[in-house]
Amino acid sequence: MDERVVTNHELETDTFEKNIRPDSFDEYIGQNDVKENIKVFVTAAKMRNTNLDHVLLYGPPGLGKTTLAHIIANELGSNIKTASGPTIEKSGDLAAILSTLEPNDVLFIDEIHRIPRYIEEILYSAMEDFKLDIIIGSEGQSRSIKIDLPPFTLVGATTRAGDLSSPLRDRFGIVSKLEFYTDDELTQIVERTARVIGAKIDKDAAHEIAIRSRKTPRIANRLLKRVSDFALVEGINKINLEIVKKSLDRLKINSSGLDSTDVEYLMSIIKKFNGGPVGIESIASSIGEEATTIEDVIEPFLLQEGYVKRTSRGRIVTEKTYREFKINEQKTLFDYDVL
Ligand SMILES: Nc1ncnc2c1ncn2[C@@H]1O[C@H](COP(=O)(O)OP(=O)(O)OP(=O)(O)O)[C@@H](O)[C@H]1O
Ligand SMILES: [Mg+2]
Repeated sequence: MDERVVTNHELETDTFEKNIRPDSFDEYIGQNDVKENIKVFVTAAKMRNTNLDHVLLYGPPGLGKTTLAHIIANELGSNIKTASGPTIEKSGDLAAILSTLEPNDVLFIDEIHRIPRYIEEILYSAMEDFKLDIIIGSEGQSRSIKIDLPPFTLVGATTRAGDLSSPLRDRFGIVSKLEFYTDDELTQIVERTARVIGAKIDKDAAHEIAIRSRKTPRIANRLLKRVSDFALVEGINKINLEIVKKSLDRLKINSSGLDSTDVEYLMSIIKKFNGGPVGIESIASSIGEEATTIEDVIEPFLLQEGYVKRTSRGRIVTEKTYREFKINEQKTLFDYDVL
């Protein structure tokens, strides 16, 4: 399958990504409920001069979890140390990170659901009592060591809150779900990013990028970047609606904002499984994607927009999907070949 504009994680660790990332609550657009609440808790922690309670941020990729973690640290005036679930393989890995913490620091653990269970247990006492309790050495010669930690804030991010064990989930005092953005919020994000990168853009052009970005800031920013490439090469100095439409068509983002992977996913259910119900594993092997990628990256948007539904017997596409592709539900499998 072709490379997708939507990827699972930040690919662009370059300066573009760093420059456009908002670094204060005021610059962070949307997610108003989450933002307003966290603002209060940050302010209260500062007034009491204590650490902020641990925060769990969850939601689909690209909605601003990592960004918000950095903003929390900034607004607290604290240092942020970052780690990622998959890189914490041994208890020593976690101990090494924890032992560098200073009072009121933020420890950001991305993909926290991927920490092995037995290491999670070390986190329990670190989070609850600020004590590090680990066993070192091998069997026979092992000993337990206890180290006091300064009060700190763990900010965990995950696309799959359901994969967290409940003892871990229960130790977060603040649990916030990030939602898909409205078209209006995304338009503001596109306009803001354009300003930051020094690109001029018409309002209707920014809106067009917004409505074709799967309600996700990361995608909106990527599309803006690609569109500004097309505009530059064509000698257009203010991005207009026409160049946006032309560029997005070339990137195979359709007018409803579905990209080629979305189309492939939906068409596979229609063509190969007669509209469903079909199990996730069957879809995965039919389109050559991991089931987890389908669940974490592709489906949340399609479910929210009502293109597909989850039933106890598997996924089914909806009326809306048939209409989107102008397919009559009664068509036989043979008819799809001419599409
Ligand atoms: N509320 C927002 N306002 C402005 N820009 C935003 C906002 N949220 C996210 N962005 C931008 O979108 C991009 C993706 O955000 P971020 O990396 O924080 O997502 P994420 O939720 O951590 O994704 P993942 O699950 O893949 O780690 C960033 O470049 C950031 O600048
Ligand atoms: Mg992230």
